[in-house]
Amino acid sequence: MVDGEAMRRVLGAFAGGVVVVTATSESGEPVGMACQSFSSLSLDPPLVMFCPAETSTTWPRIRAAGRFAVNVLAEDQRETCAAMARGGTGGAGKFAGVPWRPAPGGSPLLDGALAWIEADIDRELAGGDHSVVIGRVTALDAGRDAGPLLFFRSRFGALSEPVGV
Ligand SMILES: Cc1cc2nc3c(=O)[nH]c(=O)nc-3n(C[C@H](O)[C@H](O)[C@H](O)COP(=O)(O)O)c2cc1C
Repeated sequence: MVDGEAMRRVLGAFAGGVVVVTATSESGEPVGMACQSFSSLSLDPPLVMFCPAETSTTWPRIRAAGRFAVNVLAEDQRETCAAMARGGTGGAGKFAGVPWRPAPGGSPLLDGALAWIEADIDRELAGGDHSVVIGRVTALDAGRDAGPLLFFRSRFGALSEPVGV
C-alpha cells in the first residue's frame, strides 16, 4: 500500500532547491507560496512549471493574476521560505518584513533571491491532488552570487562546498 506518509518519506530523499512563486492579487496585494516542485520545462519555447496543491489558497490568486514570478531562494532565506509556506495567513500577511520589488509584469521579486523568472500562465493540467502549471517565460535574470537553499528529508540545508558563479 502506497500511502501519503510513504510518499513523503521516500520522495523526501530527492533533494532540491526551493522557490517562492509570487503574483499580484486582484486587489493589488502581493501573494506567494514556497514550492519545491519547480522545474525548467522547455527552452524553445521557454517554459517553466510548478505544482500547487489543490488545497492551496494562494494558487487560485496566482491563477487569477494570469502570470507569476519564480524566486529562487538563497541559503540564508530559510525564514522567508517558512513565512511563504505558512497557510492561513494569506495575501500580504506573508510579506510582512520581506522586501520586494515588481518584475516587468508586476509580479513580486523578493530581495536577496539567486534568480527570478516571470512567466504568463500557459496551461494548467490535472495531477492528482496537485495541478501542473506551465508558464511561458517573459522575463528573467540572475540575482546575487550565493549558495542555494536546499530541502532534503523535510529539513533545510545548504551545499557543503563553497559555490561561485
Ligand atoms: C520546502 C517547501 C516546499 C514546498 N513545495 C510545495 C509545492 O511544490 N507545492 C505546494 O502546493 N506546496 C508546497 N509547499 C507548501 C506551501 O508553501 C504551503 O502549503 C502554502 O504556502 C500554504 O499556503 P497557501 O494556503 O497560502 O497556499 C512547500 C513548502 C515548503 C516548506
